[in-house]
Amino acid sequence: MAQKSGSQGGDADAFLFVDKTLHNPLAQADWSAKKLVWVPSERTGFEAASIKDEKGDEVIVELVENGKKVTVNKDDIQKMNPPKFSKVEDMAELTCLNEASVLHNLRERYYSGLIYTYSGLFCVVVNPYKMLPIYSEKIVEMYKGKKRHEMPPHIYAIADTAYRSMLQDREDQSILCTGESGAGKTENTKKVIQYLAVVASSHKSKKDANAIQDPSFAYGELEKQLLQANPILEAFGNAKTVKNDNSSRFGKFIRINFDVTGYIVGANIDTYLLEKSRAIRQAPEERTFHIFYYLLAGAGVKMKEDLLLESFSSYRFLSNGHVPIPGQDDKDMFEETSEAMSIMGFSIDEQTCKNHLAFIFSELNVDFKHVH
Ligand SMILES: Nc1ncnc2c1ncn2[C@@H]1O[C@H](COP(=O)(O)OP(=O)(O)OP(=O)(O)O)[C@@H](O)[C@H]1O
Ligand SMILES: [Mg+2]
Repeated sequence: MAQKSGSQGGDADAFLFVDKTLHNPLAQADWSAKKLVWVPSERTGFEAASIKDEKGDEVIVELVENGKKVTVNKDDIQKMNPPKFSKVEDMAELTCLNEASVLHNLRERYYSGLIYTYSGLFCVVVNPYKMLPIYSEKIVEMYKGKKRHEMPPHIYAIADTAYRSMLQDREDQSILCTGESGAGKTENTKKVIQYLAVVASSHKSKKDANAIQDPSFAYGELEKQLLQANPILEAFGNAKTVKNDNSSRFGKFIRINFDVTGYIVGANIDTYLLEKSRAIRQAPEERTFHIFYYLLAGAGVKMKEDLLLESFSSYRFLSNGHVPIPGQDDKDMFEETSEAMSIMGFSIDEQTCKNHLAFIFSELNVDFKHVH
């Protein structure tokens, strides 16, 4: 695919655009001369091989990696796409659409730092497990109002398509994030909200000089609240599991309301199926909901006294004591959660709701005793 216009993302370009200069012109000739195909591999799922001989249902192939000859059943062979489809942005364009080719394309793109790939209407995301420079406001601006195929695949393009369709067709739109635990649903949902908070904000001073000095200034009050709902939900409903240090232990449906001109005018979040049992017992190496650790680590002397808080070891419902999360300080997270609560309009009294919290801590200990 040709380099798209509008590649002004600077550092981000390498994580968005395919570098076609690295393509080997001999690859096409090689592909057809060697009759390259995909064969099953225990180690990598599928591996490249060249067809040497065919006898009925049996095919003799030579593995590209080590030159070994192996016999495979004809049904186990999957066609390989010509090299011009390498790292294709939309897998619906592949000539041979099979499991091996889809996996190969996602892998090749991922190894090149490209985590987003379209598959028709879907956008497939591979979790990079590191911060990529592709979520800045500059990148948001690059995607604003662009057609899907004018720009490389991105969650912003999905959000923008939904936004434009809503304005044009005057119909509600929805975006579904699905995948296994740790896939990146929560992170990508936040990027959708971040995108809409910039694009659909009625906040007039957005382009003020202040906005450049202080990026948080770029959002209106309502948008700030929309963004700050997440830290609170995550503090109370997320926990460290063996699969994900920030696993959502509940489902959520976020509805954002817009006025006729496309500005955000409100939002509400419905939550489903909180994993309540986690409050009293956790599997080895897992934690209960973050808020308990945030509070015990972050509360000052006065708050600890007021809330009758003791040390981590005093609470039997913290099955594994204080399990830290690598790269995260529970004390800092307490500050962040308190700040989010203030932005959301919780009064100090509501935030500490003394009696409730003291009650929850003592009550959970009681529950725990009942269970055992
Ligand atoms: N786009 C991304 N960029 C950087 N890191 C990411 C990205 N997506 C996910 N991660 C990392 O992976 C972790 C897990 O992602 P996330 O919490 O979104 O998964 P999830 O699909 O919501 O899982 P669960 O079903 O357990 O809630 C994040 O905490 C973050 O560290
Ligand atoms: Mg999640």
